[in-house]
Amino acid sequence: MRLSFSLLFFFSSLSLLAQEADLPNDFLSKDFHKERRAKLRANLPANSVAVFFANAVRNRANDVDYVYHQDPDFYYLTGYKEPDAILFVFKESQLAANATRYNEILFVQPRNAQREMWTGRRLGEQGTKDVLGFQQTFNNSEFKRYNVDFSKFDKILFFDFQNDVRDNPKDSSDLYDLIIQFKAKVKYAEKNAPSLAVEPVKNNLDMKSLADQMAKLRGIKTKAEIELIRKAVAISCLGQVEVMKAIKPGMSEREIQGIHEFIYKKYQAEDLGYPSIVGAGHNGCILHYIDNYKPSVSSKELILMDLGAEFHGYSADITRTIPVNGKFSPEQKLIYELVLFAQEEAMKIARPGTLRQALTDTCRAVINRGLLQLGIIKPNEKHLYFPHGVCHHIGLDVHDRGGPVLEEYNTVTIEPGIYIPDNAACDKKWWGIAVRIEDDYLITKDGYEHLSKIAPRTVKEIEDMMKQPSVFETFTVPELDKLMGKPKN
Ligand code: GLY
Ligand code: MN
Ligand code: MN
Repeated sequence: MRLSFSLLFFFSSLSLLAQEADLPNDFLSKDFHKERRAKLRANLPANSVAVFFANAVRNRANDVDYVYHQDPDFYYLTGYKEPDAILFVFKESQLAANATRYNEILFVQPRNAQREMWTGRRLGEQGTKDVLGFQQTFNNSEFKRYNVDFSKFDKILFFDFQNDVRDNPKDSSDLYDLIIQFKAKVKYAEKNAPSLAVEPVKNNLDMKSLADQMAKLRGIKTKAEIELIRKAVAISCLGQVEVMKAIKPGMSEREIQGIHEFIYKKYQAEDLGYPSIVGAGHNGCILHYIDNYKPSVSSKELILMDLGAEFHGYSADITRTIPVNGKFSPEQKLIYELVLFAQEEAMKIARPGTLRQALTDTCRAVINRGLLQLGIIKPNEKHLYFPHGVCHHIGLDVHDRGGPVLEEYNTVTIEPGIYIPDNAACDKKWWGIAVRIEDDYLITKDGYEHLSKIAPRTVKEIEDMMKQPSVFETFTVPELDKLMGKPKN
């Protein structure tokens, strides 16, 4: 089917209007992003420019791409959610050809009725001015002609390239081309092709310090960010609550994953902060187990569920571990309460000035001591069943940028765990017990606010919640094999 161009424009403007009317209006404001750029500018060294690239479009297979996800630094500084864009933030204002001055400039993908009919709305040059509040924006095809003399800067700060961006041969100003054009403009010497290297006029390329610059900014959450994180966390807690009520022996790990994710969608979370981890029994020992393939969880098992909704870009990161049959066995309870005690001990020192590593050290000390007392480890064995740290920042990334020392307005996790695989060198009554308890916190002036406390956490809270009726009890679907006329074997 072919559409005439006027018809195409008619339909695409209709759909634009509809989409705009339906768009949520509680995204971060353009003033938020503008203020973030101003803060970054204030922290930049003299006579410098910071350069950011939009995330690449990633191919899934053949002509299907993964759902696009903006680079978090780029989103933080712009609010722009589309690919094929570059942002420049200048320390000092620059002189434009028309004699006006500017201190930031954005190159974005152009409007295109044909493409927008297939893949959705684009802001374009004018939209980034109107919606995102930029003064200087241009179509990305203009970048080639952008003639700032980059040799004049003492520092050009950017993140080094990973050489993992595909060229779209039909688009001569996609990210692939923008990177090539940028490299030529700043005289970037290719590491892997020294013979082709362009000799830098002066070595003003700084590919190291932007990570610290962004960590300094992104680690300290603003009020608006905290609101979004609260929402992502609350939604994720409600997923845990619904699963606690609904879970039954015989359900599959995927079905349980599906209940969490259904609740996320019910509350309009756009995405997951990371692939959902739902592991029963021994599967819980695989720290980032995302296959979730077990078709039937057993009544004797614990199930470890580490999931986080992403709401307007911000991710929660919450783990609850519960007994499939609603009651912890004595061994499960001993391990669970040891992990819980470790978390409580770490919470006691969570405040500005504490090293994140100190929270890990606290949990390790508690868990090593406890496992020794239970006869699960020997005196010389340390961290055997607890191989990870317990505290990271959360935000636009689930493992967000931020500093090593806790500060007011950080949002972080505390997540100790014990994982005893089948065939571990201990009494087999402990085998297959994997427990992680992970909560999200806002660091306050003299302590913390426990953001995820509405997800039941103690043994009693969990067992009580698991006795509650579930809306999913009445949710039944036809047996697929029967429906398809397959004989039972
Ligand atoms: N969900 C990944 C983590 O807990 O860090
Ligand atoms: Mn985590
Ligand atoms: Mn987690």
